[in-house]
Amino acid sequence: MAPEIRKVGVLGCGLMGSGIAQVAATSGYTTIVREVETAPLTKGRAAIEKSTAKLVEKKKLSGAERDAALARLTFTTELSALVDCDLVIEAVPEELELKNRLWRELDGRCPAHTIFASNTSSLTIGAMAAATGRADRFVGLHFFNPVPLMPLLEVVRGLLTSRETLDRSLAFARSLGKEAVIARDTPGFLVNLLLIPYLLDAVRALERGVGTVTDLDLAMRLGCGYPMGPFTLLDFVGIDTTVRIAEIMFDEYRESRYAAPPLLRRMALAGLHGRKTGKGFYDYSVDPPVPLELN
Ligand code: CAA
Repeated sequence: MAPEIRKVGVLGCGLMGSGIAQVAATSGYTTIVREVETAPLTKGRAAIEKSTAKLVEKKKLSGAERDAALARLTFTTELSALVDCDLVIEAVPEELELKNRLWRELDGRCPAHTIFASNTSSLTIGAMAAATGRADRFVGLHFFNPVPLMPLLEVVRGLLTSRETLDRSLAFARSLGKEAVIARDTPGFLVNLLLIPYLLDAVRALERGVGTVTDLDLAMRLGCGYPMGPFTLLDFVGIDTTVRIAEIMFDEYRESRYAAPPLLRRMALAGLHGRKTGKGFYDYSVDPPVPLELN
């Protein structure tokens, strides 16, 4: 029987990595986050401080719980600091070779019971598991943005993920206060399989002049009760990220509904990536954001 998960390592301290580290630490795990440089660690720590302050303000977390969570968090640039973790969750950029370099290095140094988990939204879990000698202890843990607020966790079972690893991952998801769903290791898992064609359809509707960005957003918010309309969500997820996920899904399924429309591809190439670059379907340099005029 594998020992209980007590120490969690997180690879990457970007938007997803810092959110994952935050929920692990607030759920009682000793958490260590690793980045290649100190700048993203400083930014990630500030995001965690801001987010936990907000949760205290909203009485979702007490001041003492927040302080205890922050005390459980360590930020490092040393990969070797993660070798005694019981679970390592990777949230680095979506480049297979980059991820596999990290997995290979950790595989030789972490104990046998350590579970390796990837937060990938577009790569194949099996392609990372194959770089290690622990394909049975390799799983997908796909979180949603913003991680501290979104209650879902997709637990992705690779072809060789063992029942024990799946059970330990499901128990871990519950301990974070997340609701888990189990997905097979196919592009899009469950959420993106449905979400990506919906977002692409909204762009196709815009291209055909069916409605404006504002009206299509309003329609889905008020007509369907979605918290964000499709264009606000595209800017939130990232135009570049959406194009990349769509490309991977199209490659696999060869169905036109997964093909990124020309407008979206052009926006990605033009650096209009959404909130993270300040401009996407909306211009975020003004508050509230206004639709960006596109030729
Ligand atoms: N930590 C703590 N609090 C946060 C926060 C965070 N990270 N992010 C936002 N909040 C707070 C806000 O500050 C705000 O507080 P106030 O009410 O005091 O102002 C509160 O949460 C609510 O936020 P907003 O008023 O800005 O807006 P909202 O009520 O619409 O809620 C939301 C925000 C939870 C993000 C909601 O809009 C939502 O659920 N949107 C959809 C998000 C979604 O679909 N995410 C999945 C994307 S797909 C993905 O991630 C996977 C992939 O592979 C692409």
